[in-house]
Amino acid sequence: MRAVVKTAAQRGFEIYKDLPEPTVGPHDVLIDVAAASLCGTDRELYEWTPSAQAFNAKVPVVLGHEGSGTVLSVGENVRSLAVGDRVALESHIVCGRCYPCRTGTAHMCERTRILGMHIDGVFAERVAVPEGICVPLPESVSLETGALLESAGVAMHAVQRSGYAVAGQNVLINGCGPVGLVIAKIALAMGAANVIAVEPNPFRQEQAKRIGARVTHPGEHVVEMCRDIGGRRGGFDVAFEVSGVRGVLAPMFDALRPEGTLVTIGHPSEHAQVDIAGQINKKGITLRGIFGRRLWDSWEQLLLLVESGRLELDSLVTHRLPLEQAEEAVHLLTGEAGKVLLVPSLT
Ligand SMILES: NC(=O)c1ccc[n+]([C@@H]2O[C@H](COP(=O)([O-])OP(=O)(O)OC[C@H]3O[C@@H](n4cnc5c(N)ncnc54)[C@H](O)[C@@H]3O)[C@@H](O)[C@H]2O)c1
Ligand SMILES: [Zn+2]
Ligand SMILES: [Zn+2]
Repeated sequence: MRAVVKTAAQRGFEIYKDLPEPTVGPHDVLIDVAAASLCGTDRELYEWTPSAQAFNAKVPVVLGHEGSGTVLSVGENVRSLAVGDRVALESHIVCGRCYPCRTGTAHMCERTRILGMHIDGVFAERVAVPEGICVPLPESVSLETGALLESAGVAMHAVQRSGYAVAGQNVLINGCGPVGLVIAKIALAMGAANVIAVEPNPFRQEQAKRIGARVTHPGEHVVEMCRDIGGRRGGFDVAFEVSGVRGVLAPMFDALRPEGTLVTIGHPSEHAQVDIAGQINKKGITLRGIFGRRLWDSWEQLLLLVESGRLELDSLVTHRLPLEQAEEAVHLLTGEAGKVLLVPSLT
């Protein structure tokens, strides 16, 4: 079958035309991949940056951790899925036995393995995955939308982690990549009073404007804007850091009102400094971070919003390419693109 394979611990990957079919274990299902979506991690894996190397990917490996498809066959011990079922895939494969797994915080599993890094992923015509990471899609949700749910689930988790502190509130979002944009969409769907989106890339500024956010470029004026709009509250109620760029946290703290909440999603490559006395103690800011999706309530909450029509994700997609153009897809990520999909049925 055709697949995008990371063949060696160095820059690049290879497109295979005749990779052997996946082996389906007793607890696995074989999926006919409908669509696979790329994110910044795929670019890191392509470039083989230090943060990509830190994942300890098993090489060679078929890349791709965001995807959806239809069940083609099931292993002998699979009980919850049948041939023909349409599913989206959770990318984190958790052990089910460690302390976090047994106490409702499986997204913190001590033995997490990741699709497309530690087992073969979805940049392929077919993939064999554990039954446990398949999320059946409601009838009204398309397979293409299904491929967007893993990354949208990160946005959902961020909103959950804020204590759903977006309804009727002033919300600041730093970074309008796909994750930041979905946070903005969820905040607006849940009735945020004002959403300010900070983004330097004009293409993404335009995307954020279209969904109803007030858009501005990064700079010192952002703190003033939030204090002006926040008025007597003294600043914005909640802020989400979704750029991963270093040096952006200090002004975000300044833009928040006393007892406001800051949620970090972006992974900066260096340690950041936090003014504990000023911001955490005397101003009472709550600082929280997230990793992946809460299993399974981020998925359940996200699906409810999508299924009910309150949250639309399809407009995030700007490109659909065949597997053979995976390299082009990676390069699109830093340019004029939203979500880029690899569609195995395209040739
Ligand atoms: N915590 C998690 O579990 C998790 C999961 C997925 C992604 N991430 C991280 O979240 C971040 C966002 O993911 P994404 O897929 O949307 O990435 P992305 O790289 O597409 O988006 C980041 C955006 O930030 C913008 N940006 C650059 N400099 C900025 C600045 N100074 N101020 C504001 N915006 C700026 C970029 O133009 C870009 O649009 C990345 O750092 C990613 O690694 C974390
Ligand atoms: Zn991803
Ligand atoms: Zn575990």
